[in-house]
Amino acid sequence: MKAVFPGSFDPITSGHMDVLTRASRIFDSVTVTVMHNARKQGRHLFTLDERLDILRTATGHLDNVGVDSFGGLLVDYMAQEQKGIILRGLRAVSDYEYELQIAHLNRQLGEVETVFIMAATRWSFVSSSMVREIASYGGDIREMVPRASADALRVKYADVYEERERASAPTPD
Ligand code: PNS
Repeated sequence: MKAVFPGSFDPITSGHMDVLTRASRIFDSVTVTVMHNARKQGRHLFTLDERLDILRTATGHLDNVGVDSFGGLLVDYMAQEQKGIILRGLRAVSDYEYELQIAHLNRQLGEVETVFIMAATRWSFVSSSMVREIASYGGDIREMVPRASADALRVKYADVYEERERASAPTPD
């Protein structure tokens, strides 16, 4: 069975990686698909190409995982690519209502089933938006994201991180 793991992945987090790694042991293949909308392009920290680069690096060790992108309805992608199942992660009850709505809509629109995998509890508080927020102040996000995301955030906020490092460096006597 083939699964598609759709999302914005701006950037991919350790919670996403946890769900993806566990799904890769269940499904024959998993495609991580960045869903994008040309009209919403400015709303992301990373460009589509940057997000795809990060994803390729972060998932390179998973043999049956591929990376793709699509700029339309998820059900159209599922039909076009003949993929079987939509995979989504759940962190906490607060995700449930939103995910339930999307899953029902996708089944109504394209008769596609959604399978949920619960992210490990240690990631229940981690989201891409929180990681972006912390990184924008130069905070330590290395536990919360794979190395590729951490490196890209470090580059994006290089001035903030450098300033923070300068401020915390011991002053010479
Ligand atoms: O990572 P996200 O932002 O929670 O992912 C949401 C996403 C991208 C999976 C969802 O918005 C989506 O499938 N967008 C594509 C457009 C679409 O099919 N919309 C109808 C279902 S909401």
